[in-house]
Amino acid sequence: MSTENTSLKKHNTFALPVKAAHLVIAEKIEMMIKAWQKAQKRREPLLVIGEGSNVLFLEDFAGTVMINSLKGIEVREEDDAWHLHVSSGENWHYLVSQTLEQGIPGLENLALIPGLVGSAPIQNIGAYGFELKQVCEYVDLLDLNTGEIDRMNPERCEFGYRESVFKHEFKVGYIIVGVGLRLSKQWDPLLNYGDLTKLDPRTVTPQQVFDAVCAMRRSKLPDPRITGNAGSFFKNPQVSEEEANMLLAEYPTMPHYPQLDGQVKLAAGWLIEQCALKGYQIGGAAVHRQQALVLVNADSASSQDVVALARHVRNKVAEKFNVWLEPEVRFIGATGELDAVEVLS
Ligand code: FAD
Ligand code: EPU
Repeated sequence: MSTENTSLKKHNTFALPVKAAHLVIAEKIEMMIKAWQKAQKRREPLLVIGEGSNVLFLEDFAGTVMINSLKGIEVREEDDAWHLHVSSGENWHYLVSQTLEQGIPGLENLALIPGLVGSAPIQNIGAYGFELKQVCEYVDLLDLNTGEIDRMNPERCEFGYRESVFKHEFKVGYIIVGVGLRLSKQWDPLLNYGDLTKLDPRTVTPQQVFDAVCAMRRSKLPDPRITGNAGSFFKNPQVSEEEANMLLAEYPTMPHYPQLDGQVKLAAGWLIEQCALKGYQIGGAAVHRQQALVLVNADSASSQDVVALARHVRNKVAEKFNVWLEPEVRFIGATGELDAVEVLS
């Protein structure tokens, strides 16, 4: 399906009233290649999105926005694990609940994360002590210029905290069309985060972990169907041990998480809350009251309201803590992605 000058309000979870010159809903790989060739001919950009839950459109898109709608889930059982091949247009939470229903545990810590399966490797989605990379066996990447599909192993994906090669080298001209997951039959509950620590590892079931994760998320994170948002707006910043110690001397209760590489991760939500910004509003955009790391479309916000609010938050945190936050959300201009830090500077 293809339409012209179409509203993207339903296709971005911030619910911003931007438009795309062309909108294509692609159910087949051939449709993706055709749309790319058409856009190349017109000398216009093409942007593939899933559910738009990690993007901020700054203005109307002057080319083709393509919605990934490739469907299909295949399960292969082996002695020690289930191997899943999932088409990239499947909904992530649907996959988590379906696997659990079929007695296949392993994804429950990542329940209720919005978006599609194909978007999951891009920022290596993570929550409650777990990241996609822990179960990702491969990513199938379509090269739109050659039509070839490259099966990439996890090393080549260069997964990191909210990071992968798909944000860099393979950003334009490539589409993730499938994801391979390996879910071990040896289920080890991961219970080291938040309310999960209250569960008994000897008796807990995957369903109980799933329920606890869903309950925690519902209590803190706004439902994008009701209040527009894109989850955590900024990444949690990583600073040197020395910087962390200096901050801890002044703020002894500051949450901090030492990393294997010697860096220390700080909680951006805590830093923002300390600047007394919960509920702070510019135009229609506001800092969420339950979770300061989430910026919301509180009242018919424009893209400019969200940018102005993000800039204010970033400047206030830097003023107080000398820590510069970097957006997790991808900023999209009229012809493609922009450098979010540059936009906010
Ligand atoms: P989109 O926003 O549509 O796209 C994201 C980027 O990927 C864009 O740049 C797009 O161009 C590109 N892209 C999309 N599909 C493809 C493809 N097939 N091939 C190549 N490029 C593609 N994230 C977490 O990690 N953990 C969380 O706990 C979490 N919680 C959230 C809670 C809420 C309420 C919301 C709104 C978001 C949350 N997120 C979280 C962020 C978001 O859910 C994830 O980043 C998700 O993977 C985005 O999926 P999407 O399909 O909506 O991607
Ligand atoms: N905190 C505050 N005030 C706030 C928010 C948080 O003091 O307003 C404190 C909390 O008390 C806690 C710490 O900050 O001590 C961390 O907070 P939380 O557990 O809520 O997690 P987060 O760091 O804010 C991250 C991810 C989320 C993920 C959760 C759960 C990032 C950028 N965000 O949030 O992912 O769901 O952990 O694992 O890493 C997303 O990426 O969109 C996202 C929602």
